[in-house]
Amino acid sequence: MQRLGDAGGHGHARTRDGAGLLEVFPGAGDALAWLEADTFADPVFPRQISATSAAVSDLPADDRLRPLLASWQLPVSDALVETAEGDAHRALGKLTQRLTGPLKGVLQERALWRPGDPSAPRMHVTLDSGSRAWVGAAPLRHSSAFPGGIPRLRRLGGAPSRSALKLEEGLRWLVGESQRYLELRSGMTAADLGAAPGGWTWVLRQWGLGVFAVDNGALAPGLRADPDVVHVRADAFTWEPPRPLDWLVCDLVDKPARVVELMARWLRRGWARQALFNLKLPMRRRWAAVQDAERRFQRTLGAEAGRFGLRMRHLYHDREEVTAYAAPTSRN
Ligand SMILES: C[S@@+](CC[C@H](N)C(=O)[O-])C[C@H]1O[C@@H](n2cnc3c(N)ncnc32)[C@H](O)[C@@H]1O
Repeated sequence: MQRLGDAGGHGHARTRDGAGLLEVFPGAGDALAWLEADTFADPVFPRQISATSAAVSDLPADDRLRPLLASWQLPVSDALVETAEGDAHRALGKLTQRLTGPLKGVLQERALWRPGDPSAPRMHVTLDSGSRAWVGAAPLRHSSAFPGGIPRLRRLGGAPSRSALKLEEGLRWLVGESQRYLELRSGMTAADLGAAPGGWTWVLRQWGLGVFAVDNGALAPGLRADPDVVHVRADAFTWEPPRPLDWLVCDLVDKPARVVELMARWLRRGWARQALFNLKLPMRRRWAAVQDAERRFQRTLGAEAGRFGLRMRHLYHDREEVTAYAAPTSRN
């Protein structure tokens, strides 16, 4: 709602306990136009957003799609059937898979299927139950190609911890599917603050980066034997790198204010060119904590304020935290 207000709009929102689903009703203007105007760009907590009209109810079990799409006229370049994540919706997972192929078939029949057309939006069919659904659309740049925004990551066999998935997902979402091939190259260097047992260091090593792994705890045996991993037993808040590095990553469990200020100090001093890090959120007032982190980040940058942008996202593999990416504004 704050985003809508900042863009000069108004409206109201509705949620249901535990449903993982938020409906926003703009008081004026077309929902798709709000999305196209980037009003909800780069959301922190929602994993998927689409502009829909009212939900359609009483869909017959033997033909849900035709009545749902009866008045749909917009050509689309992709189409997903998905559902929210709460307990009430979890049982619908199989049905979303069964309907995806037929949905594309119906769109083809009606000459509304334009795969590969970057200007055509993605269609989102969101099941609320077996007989009720919303149909909507979102510009490709604001919507995930994965149903529900949940990435199907290849299993990271060999990674010393599940945390590795957080960095993998963060690199995809925040750095970008193609940009990460430019930003992570063999021969680059990184610091991993709070590295043990080494899931994040392991991901960086897969990309060929040399890593200073800073942690008093033990690293996994494979990383201990790796000549391109320097295990630094030190306090991450006071350790200084021997030379400027390409990357800073950080998975410290500490106050978000302390961590974000540490990241900004590194960037201000030129110790790293970009940073990807986790911020552990308090139980309550999480949006306020996110906004506080943004303010502290720019304040700590001092004379460098504005030169770096900060994007944050609550990833699928995150728990009580958000993942943040700080990079020069020319790119972020
Ligand atoms: C969540 S774990 C990191 C997991 C790691 N990213 C991985 O993928 O395996 C947090 C780590 O931060 C370390 N840590 C906490 N405070 C620290 C500090 N002040 N300096 C260095 N390491 C610290 C802990 O020892 C712990 O190993």
